[in-house]
Amino acid sequence: MTNRTPLIAGNWKMNLDHLQAIALVQKLSWTLNDADHDFGEVEVVVFPPFTDLRSAQTLIDAEKFEIKLGAQDLSQHASGAYTGEISGQMLSKLNVEYVLVGHSERRTYHAEDDSVVQQKVAAAWENNLIPIICVGETLEELETQGQSAVPIIQTINALSGHKVLGDFVIAYEPVWAIGTGKVATAQEASEVATAIRKALQANFGDDAANSRILYGGSVKANNVAGFLQSEQVDGVLVGGASLDAEEFSGISRFKKHIVL
Ligand code: PGA
Repeated sequence: MTNRTPLIAGNWKMNLDHLQAIALVQKLSWTLNDADHDFGEVEVVVFPPFTDLRSAQTLIDAEKFEIKLGAQDLSQHASGAYTGEISGQMLSKLNVEYVLVGHSERRTYHAEDDSVVQQKVAAAWENNLIPIICVGETLEELETQGQSAVPIIQTINALSGHKVLGDFVIAYEPVWAIGTGKVATAQEASEVATAIRKALQANFGDDAANSRILYGGSVKANNVAGFLQSEQVDGVLVGGASLDAEEFSGISRFKKHIVL
């Protein structure tokens, strides 16, 4: 057994306006509450688009929902002439607790390299946000470099050069498994999580090595239990399936699935 609290994260990507966001957060909370979900035992975090955050926050506060709020990205800069960017301070004022950093779609479509990711991790910590650092290899990298090489390098680069490390989460998402329906096997996910944990231990010590490591890529209610049977995998980062309240609450209640 580990002392790490499992984390179920729902990345909505560029889906749902603020009215649809309110409806989904409401439905998700009701569904989980009806099922007596213990949010202390399994943390549930949603990552809506920026324009939905204020509405989701107001609802969560007013209804005292236990679902937590995350953002999909943040600027590496504190403030200033960066048209279109959103700062860490803006997010933390909205009670955002987590922020995705270096998602493969940011790396691919917005040319975010490891240096930008490293700066975004620093910006998150400066604003008391917990970065969920996304790492993962493409199919070509898998074939040429093996399964753990790229995730390990991306992890080390994101965490190097900081004076002190704050809390963080690593999300291992093989790029070839995101939105494709192709899923890594539970064993592959466990092996890569183990390799990342070893690299954390060797480079940054015990506390860093006890950080949560998630798996992401085509996770559904009917395959989540396999990933989470590994002691090394502390939760999942879910894209498409997080847009459906029933499906996402099924994923969040994985423990009960195992017990039943
Ligand atoms: P998916 O996305 O679950 O739709 O594959 C995962 C992610 O990109 O975080």
